[in-house]
Amino acid sequence: MPREILATSALPYANGRIHLGHIVEHVQSDIWVRAMRMAGHTVHYVCADDAHGTSIMLRAEKEGITPEALIDGVWREHTADLRDFGVAYDHYSSTNGETNREQTYRIWNALVASGHVESRPVKQLFDPERQMFLPDRFIKGECPNCHAKEQYGDACEVCGNTYNPIDLINPYSVVSGAKPVAKESQHFFVKLADFEAMLKEWLEERRAAGGLQSEVVNKLKEWFADGLRSWDVSRDAPYFGFEIPDAPGKYFYVWVDAPIGYFAAFKELCESGTKPGLQATDFERFIRAGSDTEMIHFIGKDIIYFHTLFWPAMLHGANLRMPTAVNVHGFLTVDGAKMSKSRGTFVNARTYLEHLDADWLRYYLASMLGPTLADIDLDLKAFEERVNSHLVGKWVNIASRCAGFVHKLFDGKLANALPAAERVRYAAAACKLQACAALYEARDYAAAMRLIMEVADEANAYVAENAPWTMAKDAARRAELHTVLTLALNYFRLLSLWLAPVVPVTAARAFAFLADTPTRFEAADAPLLGHAIAPFHTLATRIDPKQITAMIEASKESLAATPPSAGTPSPSKASEARQALPSVSPNPVSPSPESRAPSPDFISIDDFARLDLRVGKVIACEAVDGSDKLLRFELDGGELGKRQIFSGIKAAYPQPETLLGRNVVFIANLAPRKMRFGVSAGMILSAGTGGNDLFLLDADPGAQPGASVK
Ligand code: 2FM
Ligand code: ZN
Repeated sequence: MPREILATSALPYANGRIHLGHIVEHVQSDIWVRAMRMAGHTVHYVCADDAHGTSIMLRAEKEGITPEALIDGVWREHTADLRDFGVAYDHYSSTNGETNREQTYRIWNALVASGHVESRPVKQLFDPERQMFLPDRFIKGECPNCHAKEQYGDACEVCGNTYNPIDLINPYSVVSGAKPVAKESQHFFVKLADFEAMLKEWLEERRAAGGLQSEVVNKLKEWFADGLRSWDVSRDAPYFGFEIPDAPGKYFYVWVDAPIGYFAAFKELCESGTKPGLQATDFERFIRAGSDTEMIHFIGKDIIYFHTLFWPAMLHGANLRMPTAVNVHGFLTVDGAKMSKSRGTFVNARTYLEHLDADWLRYYLASMLGPTLADIDLDLKAFEERVNSHLVGKWVNIASRCAGFVHKLFDGKLANALPAAERVRYAAAACKLQACAALYEARDYAAAMRLIMEVADEANAYVAENAPWTMAKDAARRAELHTVLTLALNYFRLLSLWLAPVVPVTAARAFAFLADTPTRFEAADAPLLGHAIAPFHTLATRIDPKQITAMIEASKESLAATPPSAGTPSPSKASEARQALPSVSPNPVSPSPESRAPSPDFISIDDFARLDLRVGKVIACEAVDGSDKLLRFELDGGELGKRQIFSGIKAAYPQPETLLGRNVVFIANLAPRKMRFGVSAGMILSAGTGGNDLFLLDADPGAQPGASVK
């Protein structure tokens, strides 16, 4: 029976770049959606940027822009990265939109009306300088247990202990460096205890239905041991988020409106009219309690509590539908270790794409992904070997070996029929591969890839046994040759069909070559016969290990050149979950690498990297009529072209012509400034106090115009 499904991936924070860790999840869900569609189901696939919270507010402030401008820029980057990885959302929204505000208020008002909200004072650390309450991740100090210095307010990364930030020794605010003080404020809470019995039942029911993995349910049930505490869902101003109705200065905590963003993204899709068969009214049909549609979330193992306790509680309390499934995956490691910026294994999506093909990583990840919470290792050597051997060696090569003969000897056409033995072979392969549909649905992609490669081996053995290149030399064996080529290319088509969810771009090239446009797996039921194929063009190239080395090297560099990486921490998921579930010590979740906070008084390397410092060769320099301070420079900026810059150093250099040929250093990405004498496009650096105490900085001879200064 065709099903109607809303599928989502976790919403990436709008304060950091998409990296390969994110890609695991978006690719996992994208493969699933494509496979389910090819199996005949209707899937609506949405995501959004998670745009609220303290981190985003502080980062925007640091960059001197509004949070809205920050999240707009990040949204553009995120959507481009995901698109170029072949992740094809029907709609990608932002939680900072009006639709999300409306849905958040709707759910909140329903929770209030049904008595699931309470309010009471909370004592929290407050930054007296910045006049703001500090989330745990914005407080550092000495661990009260092992006395390690520079530990966050929620957990010690050295001894693994979790604690209350008030217990930290010598705490300081990561925002200002000030010593925080304890201060009381009124907070709103969702009474999770109201939902305990419902949640216990729901977890078991979903486990039985295959909507929740057993390991997930077992973990959650431990947390119920001493009962669920109420969940603190409000934050005081200043905060970037939605203000709580009738509570001025109080905002919804980011984790309230983040999952509601799934609904908002879907509502916008329904209202957009861009998806055939989907209308504005479908939204309510989908989200009402008891809807016969499905809602399936893909998430990482660090945000289980939010999706299997808090989110279902909110939905149930608001009398709305519950998730049908929450599919949890493990983390990505690279070469057996946590991704590391210093080793260059913390790879941004864009850096990967600048060096390697998206389909290759998609295939490798598919070959590693199963339905469990196990971490997935990107072993770079295995990645290279598997892609080259499986995709190029076993799949694409079938087409490249056969295409030429079909065009040369059979006018580009496949045989009109196959002899019985070949028909049986084809039917057996098609039948074997049908098992992939269930494997895709169960997210056992690794097993599906094994099966596909088994059939690829059979296909290659068939080609090798029949050696069409030998047959082609014998004019008497034309019919036999035509059969071999026709079956081989039908094997290739079968493999392409079943690989299509994983490697969509390469599969599209394969189908262009086959002059075929299948959209369903069922196209595999009958082989292509009497059919004209298109000329063959290279479908894929092998990975050269140098590409991988270059990506790793570039990632080491991009440690500095990563503007959208957060200089402020992300909310700590462990500590937030613990608020509601305090009785059992949680597995401390190590903060993601981008969530490290800088020490006060220091800038991060990211801050420095935002300056585009370049060498410019002075090709013209002259005094400016009407100005007693300025010199007009014309610089050769190499790849940046020529630049005019006005610099107030006339007093120090009364003979400007002596500066011709110097390799000065200038800021290339300073916003151009319109002056009375013309536009100044940058700033030339010099040392000194001003007046005639100014000394131009320059690079040694040999530095090329336009060279970056790092
Ligand atoms: O952990 C994260 O990256 C969150 N931004 C995920 C939010 S998922 C959903 F609930 F919005
Ligand atoms: Zn410690």
